[in-house]
Amino acid sequence: MKTPKKFVIKGGRTLNGEVEISGAKNAVVAILPATILADEPCVVENVPDISDVEISFRILRELGATVEYLSPHTYRIDTTAIRSHCVPYESARRMRASYYFMGALLGKFGHCRVSMPGGCPLGDRPIDQHLKAFAKLGAACKVDRGMVDITTQDGLKGNQIFFDCVTVGATMNAILAAVKAEGLTVIENAAKEPHIVDLASFLNSMGAEIMGAGTDTIKIRGVKYLRGTDYAVIPDQIEAGTYMVAAAATGGNVLVKNVIPKHLESIISVMEKIGVKIEQFDDAVRVSVDGPLVKTSIKTRPHPGFPTDMQPQISALLCLAEGTSMIKEGVSEQRFQYVDELRRMGADIQVDGKVAVIEGTGHLTGAPVKACDLRAGAALMIAGLAAQGVTTIEDIYHIERGYSDMEGKLRALGACIEKKAIIQNETGSQPDQDAV
Ligand code: EPU
Repeated sequence: MKTPKKFVIKGGRTLNGEVEISGAKNAVVAILPATILADEPCVVENVPDISDVEISFRILRELGATVEYLSPHTYRIDTTAIRSHCVPYESARRMRASYYFMGALLGKFGHCRVSMPGGCPLGDRPIDQHLKAFAKLGAACKVDRGMVDITTQDGLKGNQIFFDCVTVGATMNAILAAVKAEGLTVIENAAKEPHIVDLASFLNSMGAEIMGAGTDTIKIRGVKYLRGTDYAVIPDQIEAGTYMVAAAATGGNVLVKNVIPKHLESIISVMEKIGVKIEQFDDAVRVSVDGPLVKTSIKTRPHPGFPTDMQPQISALLCLAEGTSMIKEGVSEQRFQYVDELRRMGADIQVDGKVAVIEGTGHLTGAPVKACDLRAGAALMIAGLAAQGVTTIEDIYHIERGYSDMEGKLRALGACIEKKAIIQNETGSQPDQDAV
Protein backbone atom coordinates (compact mmCIF):
# COMPACT_ATOMS: atom_id res chain seq x y z
CA MET A 1 0.00 0.00 0.00
CA LYS A 2 1.28 3.50 -0.86
CA THR A 3 2.08 5.80 2.09
CA PRO A 4 -0.64 8.48 2.21
CA LYS A 5 0.63 11.96 1.36
CA LYS A 6 -0.46 15.49 2.09
CA PHE A 7 0.30 18.90 0.64
CA VAL A 8 1.72 21.50 2.97
CA ILE A 9 1.31 25.05 1.67
CA LYS A 10 2.65 28.24 3.18
CA GLY A 11 0.21 30.75 1.75
CA GLY A 12 0.42 34.40 0.92
CA ARG A 13 2.85 34.30 -2.01
CA THR A 14 1.78 35.71 -5.37
CA LEU A 15 2.05 33.35 -8.34
CA ASN A 16 4.08 34.68 -11.24
CA GLY A 17 5.52 33.23 -14.44
CA GLU A 18 4.28 30.61 -16.91
CA VAL A 19 2.48 27.30 -16.54
CA GLU A 20 2.00 24.66 -19.22
CA ILE A 21 -1.39 22.91 -19.27
CA SER A 22 -1.48 19.11 -19.72
CA GLY A 23 -3.81 16.96 -21.82
CA ALA A 24 -7.47 16.89 -20.79
CA LYS A 25 -8.42 14.30 -18.19
CA ASN A 26 -12.01 13.99 -19.30
CA ALA A 27 -10.94 13.49 -22.94
CA VAL A 28 -8.11 11.02 -22.34
CA VAL A 29 -10.21 8.79 -20.05
CA ALA A 30 -12.50 8.18 -23.05
CA ILE A 31 -9.81 8.12 -25.74
CA LEU A 32 -7.79 5.39 -24.00
CA PRO A 33 -10.74 2.96 -23.88
CA ALA A 34 -11.61 4.04 -27.45
CA THR A 35 -8.32 2.50 -28.66
CA ILE A 36 -10.09 -0.85 -28.11
CA LEU A 37 -12.21 -0.05 -31.18
CA ALA A 38 -9.12 0.28 -33.41
CA ASP A 39 -8.14 -2.66 -35.58
CA GLU A 40 -4.50 -1.50 -35.57
CA PRO A 41 -2.21 0.04 -32.89
CA CYS A 42 -2.66 3.73 -32.01
CA VAL A 43 -0.29 6.41 -30.74
CA VAL A 44 -1.77 8.85 -28.23
CA GLU A 45 0.12 12.08 -27.47
CA ASN A 46 -0.33 14.76 -24.79
CA VAL A 47 -1.38 12.14 -22.23
CA PRO A 48 -1.38 13.74 -18.75
CA ASP A 49 0.51 12.15 -15.82
CA ILE A 50 -2.52 11.57 -13.61
CA SER A 51 -3.68 8.54 -11.70
CA ASP A 52 -6.88 8.16 -13.79
CA VAL A 53 -4.56 7.51 -16.77
CA GLU A 54 -2.57 4.94 -14.74
CA ILE A 55 -5.83 3.15 -13.93
CA SER A 56 -6.95 3.25 -17.58
CA PHE A 57 -3.62 1.73 -18.65
CA ARG A 58 -3.96 -0.90 -15.97
CA ILE A 59 -7.43 -1.87 -17.19
CA LEU A 60 -6.24 -1.98 -20.83
CA ARG A 61 -3.36 -4.28 -19.82
CA GLU A 62 -5.68 -6.49 -17.76
CA LEU A 63 -7.87 -6.90 -20.85
CA GLY A 64 -4.82 -8.01 -22.87
CA ALA A 65 -3.66 -4.80 -24.57
CA THR A 66 -0.04 -3.62 -24.79
CA VAL A 67 0.74 -0.10 -23.61
CA GLU A 68 4.19 1.13 -24.53
CA TYR A 69 5.79 4.39 -23.37
CA LEU A 70 7.36 6.15 -26.39
CA SER A 71 8.39 9.58 -25.07
CA PRO A 72 7.06 12.03 -22.46
CA HIS A 73 3.24 12.02 -22.62
CA THR A 74 3.20 9.73 -25.68
CA TYR A 75 2.15 6.07 -25.67
CA ARG A 76 1.62 3.36 -28.27
CA ILE A 77 -1.43 1.25 -27.48
CA ASP A 78 -2.08 -2.06 -29.21
CA THR A 79 -5.47 -3.53 -28.33
CA THR A 80 -5.58 -6.08 -31.16
CA ALA A 81 -4.77 -8.98 -28.81
CA ILE A 82 -7.54 -8.24 -26.30
CA ARG A 83 -9.31 -11.45 -25.33
CA SER A 84 -11.01 -10.54 -22.04
CA HIS A 85 -14.16 -8.44 -22.17
CA CYS A 86 -14.54 -8.06 -18.42
CA VAL A 87 -13.52 -5.12 -16.20
CA PRO A 88 -13.76 -6.31 -12.60
CA TYR A 89 -14.79 -4.29 -9.54
CA GLU A 90 -11.24 -3.90 -8.23
CA SER A 91 -10.26 -1.82 -11.31
CA ALA A 92 -13.56 -0.11 -12.15
CA ARG A 93 -14.22 1.14 -8.61
CA ARG A 94 -11.14 3.36 -8.80
CA MET A 95 -12.55 5.79 -11.35
CA ARG A 96 -15.86 6.98 -12.65
CA ALA A 97 -14.66 6.94 -16.25
CA SER A 98 -14.26 3.16 -16.20
CA TYR A 99 -17.78 3.24 -17.66
CA TYR A 100 -16.21 4.07 -21.05
CA PHE A 101 -14.93 0.49 -21.20
CA MET A 102 -18.61 -0.52 -21.55
CA GLY A 103 -19.14 1.43 -24.77
CA ALA A 104 -15.74 0.51 -26.20
CA LEU A 105 -15.89 -3.24 -25.45
CA LEU A 106 -19.52 -3.44 -26.56
CA GLY A 107 -18.75 -1.52 -29.77
CA LYS A 108 -15.87 -3.83 -30.62
CA PHE A 109 -17.00 -7.26 -29.42
CA GLY A 110 -20.78 -6.99 -29.09
CA HIS A 111 -20.70 -7.86 -25.40
CA CYS A 112 -18.94 -6.98 -22.13
CA ARG A 113 -19.11 -7.33 -18.38
CA VAL A 114 -18.01 -4.21 -16.51
CA SER A 115 -18.34 -3.36 -12.83
CA MET A 116 -20.39 -0.30 -11.86
CA PRO A 117 -18.00 2.69 -11.81
CA GLY A 118 -16.42 4.46 -8.81
CA GLY A 119 -15.02 8.03 -8.87
CA CYS A 120 -15.59 11.29 -7.00
CA PRO A 121 -18.34 11.11 -4.35
CA LEU A 122 -20.63 13.68 -5.98
CA GLY A 123 -23.95 12.21 -4.91
CA ASP A 124 -26.18 9.88 -6.85
CA ARG A 125 -24.59 9.41 -10.29
CA PRO A 126 -26.82 6.97 -12.18
CA ILE A 127 -25.86 5.41 -15.52
CA ASP A 128 -29.43 4.81 -16.72
CA GLN A 129 -28.87 7.00 -19.81
CA HIS A 130 -25.77 4.99 -20.77
CA LEU A 131 -27.77 1.76 -20.55
CA LYS A 132 -30.68 3.33 -22.42
CA ALA A 133 -28.32 4.19 -25.29
CA PHE A 134 -26.90 0.65 -25.41
CA ALA A 135 -30.44 -0.79 -25.37
CA LYS A 136 -31.48 1.50 -28.26
CA LEU A 137 -28.60 0.04 -30.26
CA GLY A 138 -30.00 -3.44 -29.65
CA ALA A 139 -28.06 -4.57 -26.56
CA ALA A 140 -29.57 -6.29 -23.52
CA CYS A 141 -28.23 -4.80 -20.27
CA LYS A 142 -28.45 -6.59 -16.93
CA VAL A 143 -27.11 -5.26 -13.63
CA ASP A 144 -26.31 -8.07 -11.24
CA ARG A 145 -24.46 -7.62 -7.93
CA GLY A 146 -22.63 -4.51 -9.10
CA MET A 147 -21.65 -5.95 -12.49
CA VAL A 148 -23.21 -4.70 -15.73
CA ASP A 149 -23.63 -7.46 -18.33
CA ILE A 150 -24.26 -6.16 -21.83
CA THR A 151 -24.92 -8.52 -24.71
CA THR A 152 -26.26 -8.47 -28.27
CA GLN A 153 -27.92 -11.21 -30.30
CA ASP A 154 -26.88 -10.17 -33.83
CA GLY A 155 -24.63 -7.15 -33.32
CA LEU A 156 -25.47 -3.50 -32.69
CA LYS A 157 -27.81 -1.63 -35.04
CA GLY A 158 -27.89 2.14 -35.51
CA ASN A 159 -30.93 3.91 -34.04
CA GLN A 160 -32.29 7.21 -32.71
CA ILE A 161 -31.14 7.94 -29.12
CA PHE A 162 -32.73 10.80 -27.19
CA PHE A 163 -31.19 11.56 -23.80
CA ASP A 164 -33.56 12.60 -20.99
CA CYS A 165 -30.85 14.86 -19.54
CA VAL A 166 -27.66 16.33 -20.97
CA THR A 167 -24.98 13.86 -19.98
CA VAL A 168 -21.31 13.84 -20.92
CA GLY A 169 -20.67 10.21 -20.01
CA ALA A 170 -23.68 8.74 -21.78
CA THR A 171 -23.04 10.84 -24.91
CA MET A 172 -19.46 9.56 -25.11
CA ASN A 173 -20.55 5.97 -24.38
CA ALA A 174 -23.22 6.13 -27.10
CA ILE A 175 -20.58 7.34 -29.58
CA LEU A 176 -18.22 4.50 -28.58
CA ALA A 177 -20.92 1.86 -28.98
CA ALA A 178 -22.35 3.27 -32.24
CA VAL A 179 -19.16 3.84 -34.16
CA LYS A 180 -19.08 0.28 -35.53
CA ALA A 181 -22.84 -0.42 -35.32
CA GLU A 182 -24.64 -1.23 -38.54
CA GLY A 183 -26.29 1.82 -40.15
CA LEU A 184 -27.01 5.32 -38.85
CA THR A 185 -27.23 6.39 -35.20
CA VAL A 186 -28.62 9.81 -34.31
CA ILE A 187 -27.97 11.07 -30.77
CA GLU A 188 -30.24 13.91 -29.69
CA ASN A 189 -29.92 16.19 -26.65
CA ALA A 190 -26.22 15.29 -26.72
CA ALA A 191 -23.69 16.99 -24.43
CA LYS A 192 -21.39 19.48 -26.21
CA GLU A 193 -18.25 19.57 -24.03
CA PRO A 194 -14.84 19.95 -25.74
CA HIS A 195 -13.93 16.39 -24.71
CA ILE A 196 -16.88 15.06 -26.72
CA VAL A 197 -15.54 16.79 -29.81
CA ASP A 198 -12.08 15.41 -28.99
CA LEU A 199 -13.31 11.81 -28.72
CA ALA A 200 -15.14 12.20 -32.04
CA SER A 201 -12.03 13.71 -33.68
CA PHE A 202 -9.91 10.83 -32.38
CA LEU A 203 -12.34 8.23 -33.75
CA ASN A 204 -12.74 10.11 -37.05
CA SER A 205 -8.94 10.13 -37.42
CA MET A 206 -9.22 6.30 -37.39
CA GLY A 207 -11.86 6.33 -40.13
CA ALA A 208 -15.07 6.68 -38.11
CA GLU A 209 -17.93 8.76 -39.55
CA ILE A 210 -19.12 10.97 -36.70
CA MET A 211 -20.78 14.27 -37.60
CA GLY A 212 -22.06 17.10 -35.41
CA ALA A 213 -20.00 16.52 -32.24
CA GLY A 214 -20.11 19.79 -30.28
CA THR A 215 -23.78 20.33 -31.18
CA ASP A 216 -26.79 18.70 -29.56
CA THR A 217 -27.35 16.34 -32.50
CA ILE A 218 -24.61 13.85 -33.34
CA LYS A 219 -24.91 11.53 -36.33
CA ILE A 220 -22.80 8.41 -36.63
CA ARG A 221 -22.62 6.19 -39.68
CA GLY A 222 -21.24 2.85 -38.56
CA VAL A 223 -18.03 1.57 -40.16
CA LYS A 224 -16.58 -1.94 -40.15
CA TYR A 225 -12.88 -1.17 -39.75
CA LEU A 226 -10.96 1.47 -37.80
CA ARG A 227 -7.30 1.95 -38.67
CA GLY A 228 -4.54 3.04 -36.28
CA THR A 229 -3.92 6.73 -35.69
CA ASP A 230 -1.47 9.19 -34.11
CA TYR A 231 -3.48 11.69 -32.12
CA ALA A 232 -2.78 14.44 -29.54
CA VAL A 233 -5.32 14.96 -26.74
CA ILE A 234 -6.67 18.53 -26.31
CA PRO A 235 -5.45 20.67 -23.39
CA ASP A 236 -7.39 20.43 -20.14
CA GLN A 237 -9.95 23.22 -19.89
CA ILE A 238 -10.46 22.70 -16.15
CA GLU A 239 -6.76 22.49 -15.29
CA ALA A 240 -6.31 25.75 -17.19
CA GLY A 241 -9.21 27.35 -15.32
CA THR A 242 -7.78 26.16 -12.00
CA TYR A 243 -4.40 27.85 -12.61
CA MET A 244 -6.18 30.98 -13.84
CA VAL A 245 -8.14 31.17 -10.59
CA ALA A 246 -5.03 30.36 -8.51
CA ALA A 247 -3.17 33.24 -10.19
CA ALA A 248 -6.06 35.63 -9.48
CA ALA A 249 -6.52 34.45 -5.88
CA THR A 250 -2.89 35.27 -5.07
CA GLY A 251 -2.95 38.59 -6.92
CA GLY A 252 -0.34 37.21 -9.32
CA ASN A 253 0.47 37.50 -13.01
CA VAL A 254 0.59 34.17 -14.85
CA LEU A 255 0.73 33.14 -18.50
CA VAL A 256 -1.30 29.93 -18.80
CA LYS A 257 0.11 28.16 -21.88
CA ASN A 258 -1.07 25.37 -24.17
CA VAL A 259 -4.78 26.17 -23.91
CA ILE A 260 -7.62 26.59 -26.38
CA PRO A 261 -9.02 30.03 -25.34
CA LYS A 262 -12.38 29.21 -26.98
CA HIS A 263 -12.85 26.41 -24.40
CA LEU A 264 -12.27 28.92 -21.61
CA GLU A 265 -14.89 31.49 -22.68
CA SER A 266 -17.35 30.93 -19.82
CA ILE A 267 -14.55 30.85 -17.25
CA ILE A 268 -12.97 34.02 -18.66
CA SER A 269 -16.33 35.79 -18.69
CA VAL A 270 -16.99 34.99 -15.00
CA MET A 271 -13.45 35.90 -13.93
CA GLU A 272 -13.68 39.23 -15.75
CA LYS A 273 -16.94 39.97 -13.90
CA ILE A 274 -15.05 39.32 -10.65
CA GLY A 275 -12.49 41.92 -11.72
CA VAL A 276 -9.67 39.71 -13.00
CA LYS A 277 -7.76 40.96 -16.04
CA ILE A 278 -7.39 38.36 -18.79
CA GLU A 279 -5.52 38.75 -22.08
CA GLN A 280 -6.09 36.11 -24.75
CA PHE A 281 -3.49 34.86 -27.23
CA ASP A 282 -3.63 32.06 -29.84
CA ASP A 283 -2.86 29.27 -27.38
CA ALA A 284 -2.37 31.04 -24.05
CA VAL A 285 -4.09 33.42 -21.65
CA ARG A 286 -2.45 35.89 -19.26
CA VAL A 287 -4.16 36.39 -15.91
CA SER A 288 -3.43 39.36 -13.66
CA VAL A 289 -5.17 41.48 -11.06
CA ASP A 290 -4.96 45.27 -10.98
CA GLY A 291 -8.00 46.19 -8.91
CA PRO A 292 -10.34 44.80 -6.25
CA LEU A 293 -12.10 41.44 -6.69
CA VAL A 294 -15.86 41.86 -6.57
CA LYS A 295 -18.93 39.69 -5.95
CA THR A 296 -20.85 37.93 -8.70
CA SER A 297 -23.62 35.38 -9.31
CA ILE A 298 -22.99 32.16 -11.21
CA LYS A 299 -25.01 29.17 -12.30
CA THR A 300 -23.19 26.05 -13.47
CA ARG A 301 -24.55 24.52 -16.66
CA PRO A 302 -23.50 22.01 -19.31
CA HIS A 303 -21.08 23.37 -21.94
CA PRO A 304 -20.95 26.14 -23.14
CA GLY A 305 -22.15 27.28 -19.70
CA PHE A 306 -19.92 27.72 -16.67
CA PRO A 307 -18.60 24.21 -15.83
CA THR A 308 -19.53 22.47 -12.59
CA ASP A 309 -15.91 21.27 -12.50
CA MET A 310 -14.82 24.91 -11.87
CA GLN A 311 -17.44 25.68 -9.23
CA PRO A 312 -15.40 24.87 -6.07
CA GLN A 313 -12.34 26.77 -7.35
CA ILE A 314 -14.35 29.89 -8.18
CA SER A 315 -15.97 29.71 -4.72
CA ALA A 316 -12.52 29.89 -3.15
CA LEU A 317 -11.84 33.01 -5.23
CA LEU A 318 -15.16 34.60 -4.25
CA CYS A 319 -14.24 34.20 -0.56
CA LEU A 320 -11.51 36.73 -1.31
CA ALA A 321 -13.80 39.14 -3.19
CA GLU A 322 -15.79 42.07 -1.79
CA GLY A 323 -19.53 41.55 -1.24
CA THR A 324 -22.02 38.70 -1.29
CA SER A 325 -21.81 36.22 -4.16
CA MET A 326 -24.23 33.47 -5.08
CA ILE A 327 -23.52 30.16 -6.81
CA LYS A 328 -26.27 27.89 -8.14
CA GLU A 329 -25.21 24.34 -8.95
CA GLY A 330 -27.07 23.30 -12.08
CA VAL A 331 -25.33 20.04 -12.98
CA SER A 332 -24.06 17.90 -10.09
CA GLU A 333 -26.05 16.48 -7.20
CA GLN A 334 -23.62 17.22 -4.38
CA ARG A 335 -20.92 19.65 -5.18
CA PHE A 336 -20.74 21.71 -2.02
CA GLN A 337 -19.05 19.15 0.22
CA TYR A 338 -15.85 21.21 0.19
CA VAL A 339 -17.62 24.11 1.91
CA ASP A 340 -17.05 22.73 5.43
CA GLU A 341 -13.33 22.55 4.70
CA LEU A 342 -13.22 26.12 3.34
CA ARG A 343 -15.06 27.26 6.48
CA ARG A 344 -12.18 25.83 8.53
CA MET A 345 -10.05 28.37 6.68
CA GLY A 346 -12.34 31.25 7.62
CA ALA A 347 -14.74 31.22 4.66
CA ASP A 348 -18.27 32.47 5.27
CA ILE A 349 -20.44 30.27 3.02
CA GLN A 350 -24.04 29.18 3.60
CA VAL A 351 -25.45 26.33 1.53
CA ASP A 352 -29.13 25.71 0.95
CA GLY A 353 -29.74 22.79 -1.41
CA LYS A 354 -28.13 23.66 -4.72
CA VAL A 355 -27.35 27.28 -3.80
CA ALA A 356 -24.32 28.65 -1.96
CA VAL A 357 -24.14 32.20 -0.66
CA ILE A 358 -20.61 33.45 -0.12
CA GLU A 359 -19.84 36.49 2.04
CA GLY A 360 -16.49 37.70 0.76
CA THR A 361 -14.26 38.14 3.80
CA GLY A 362 -11.29 39.28 1.73
CA HIS A 363 -8.93 36.81 3.35
CA LEU A 364 -8.52 33.18 4.43
CA THR A 365 -6.41 31.57 7.13
CA GLY A 366 -4.33 28.41 6.83
CA ALA A 367 -5.78 25.27 8.46
CA PRO A 368 -5.63 21.46 8.25
CA VAL A 369 -8.21 20.32 5.66
CA LYS A 370 -9.14 17.27 3.58
CA ALA A 371 -9.88 17.02 -0.14
CA CYS A 372 -13.23 15.25 -0.45
CA ASP A 373 -13.14 15.08 -4.26
CA LEU A 374 -10.97 16.21 -7.16
CA ARG A 375 -12.21 19.77 -7.68
CA ALA A 376 -12.77 20.26 -3.94
CA GLY A 377 -9.07 19.48 -3.60
CA ALA A 378 -8.24 22.06 -6.28
CA ALA A 379 -10.31 24.67 -4.41
CA LEU A 380 -8.44 23.93 -1.18
CA MET A 381 -5.11 24.27 -3.02
CA ILE A 382 -6.20 27.71 -4.24
CA ALA A 383 -7.46 28.70 -0.79
CA GLY A 384 -4.20 27.48 0.78
CA LEU A 385 -2.10 29.49 -1.68
CA ALA A 386 -4.05 32.67 -0.90
CA ALA A 387 -4.39 32.11 2.87
CA GLN A 388 -2.21 33.56 5.58
CA GLY A 389 -0.28 30.80 7.34
CA VAL A 390 0.12 27.08 6.72
CA THR A 391 -2.53 24.83 5.16
CA THR A 392 -2.19 21.05 5.12
CA ILE A 393 -4.37 19.16 2.65
CA GLU A 394 -4.94 15.44 3.16
CA ASP A 395 -6.55 12.86 0.86
CA ILE A 396 -4.60 14.35 -2.03
CA TYR A 397 -5.09 11.18 -4.07
CA HIS A 398 -8.28 12.91 -5.23
CA ILE A 399 -6.21 15.79 -6.63
CA GLU A 400 -3.71 13.43 -8.27
CA ARG A 401 -6.54 11.73 -10.17
CA GLY A 402 -6.86 14.80 -12.36
CA TYR A 403 -3.93 17.22 -11.98
CA SER A 404 -0.53 16.44 -13.42
CA ASP A 405 2.30 17.39 -10.99
CA MET A 406 0.29 20.19 -9.39
CA GLU A 407 2.83 20.91 -6.68
CA GLY A 408 5.68 21.08 -9.21
CA LYS A 409 3.76 23.46 -11.47
CA LEU A 410 2.77 25.68 -8.51
CA ARG A 411 6.30 25.70 -7.09
CA ALA A 412 7.62 26.86 -10.48
CA LEU A 413 5.17 29.79 -10.19
CA GLY A 414 6.63 30.74 -6.81
CA ALA A 415 4.34 28.87 -4.42
CA CYS A 416 5.74 27.48 -1.19
CA ILE A 417 4.34 23.94 -1.33
CA GLU A 418 5.62 20.50 -0.43
CA LYS A 419 4.25 16.99 -0.69
CA LYS A 420 4.94 15.06 2.51
CA ALA A 421 4.24 11.54 3.72
CA ILE A 422 1.66 11.34 6.48
CA ILE A 423 3.47 9.61 9.32
CA GLN A 424 1.17 7.99 11.84
CA ASN A 425 2.59 7.74 15.36
CA GLU A 426 1.75 4.80 17.61
CA THR A 427 -1.47 6.36 18.85
CA GLY A 428 -2.61 6.92 15.30
CA SER A 429 -2.38 10.73 15.48
CA GLN A 430 -0.01 12.67 13.27
CA PRO A 431 3.00 14.49 14.67
CA ASP A 432 2.99 18.23 14.08
CA GLN A 433 5.74 18.76 11.51
CA ASP A 434 4.24 20.97 8.90
CA ALA A 435 6.49 23.98 8.78
CA VAL A 436 7.63 24.63 5.21
N1 EPU B 1 -27.11 11.59 -15.24
C1 EPU B 1 -28.19 10.77 -15.11
N2 EPU B 1 -28.15 9.55 -15.74
C2 EPU B 1 -27.08 9.13 -16.46
C3 EPU B 1 -25.97 10.00 -16.58
C4 EPU B 1 -26.01 11.22 -15.94
O1 EPU B 1 -29.17 11.10 -14.46
O2 EPU B 1 -27.12 8.03 -16.99
C5 EPU B 1 -27.12 12.91 -14.58
C6 EPU B 1 -26.09 12.98 -13.48
O3 EPU B 1 -26.55 12.43 -12.28
C7 EPU B 1 -25.76 14.44 -13.40
C8 EPU B 1 -25.96 14.92 -14.83
O4 EPU B 1 -26.72 13.91 -15.48
O5 EPU B 1 -26.69 15.10 -12.57
C9 EPU B 1 -24.69 15.14 -15.60
O6 EPU B 1 -23.86 13.97 -15.51
P1 EPU B 1 -22.81 13.60 -16.64
O7 EPU B 1 -23.16 12.27 -17.20
O8 EPU B 1 -22.67 14.74 -17.57
O9 EPU B 1 -21.51 13.47 -15.78
P2 EPU B 1 -20.44 12.34 -15.84
O10 EPU B 1 -20.26 11.83 -17.23
O11 EPU B 1 -20.69 11.37 -14.77
C10 EPU B 1 -18.52 14.00 -16.44
C11 EPU B 1 -17.17 14.30 -15.89
C12 EPU B 1 -17.29 15.02 -14.57
C13 EPU B 1 -18.11 16.29 -14.78
C14 EPU B 1 -19.45 15.97 -15.45
C15 EPU B 1 -20.25 17.20 -15.83
C16 EPU B 1 -15.82 12.50 -16.72
C17 EPU B 1 -15.10 11.25 -16.45
N3 EPU B 1 -16.45 13.05 -15.71
O12 EPU B 1 -19.15 13.19 -15.47
O13 EPU B 1 -15.98 15.36 -14.20
O14 EPU B 1 -18.34 16.90 -13.54
O15 EPU B 1 -19.23 15.21 -16.65
O16 EPU B 1 -19.53 17.99 -16.72
O17 EPU B 1 -15.80 13.01 -17.84
C18 EPU B 1 -14.32 16.09 -12.75
O18 EPU B 1 -13.58 16.15 -13.73
O19 EPU B 1 -14.04 16.57 -11.62
C19 EPU B 1 -15.61 15.44 -12.89
C20 EPU B 1 -16.35 15.03 -11.85
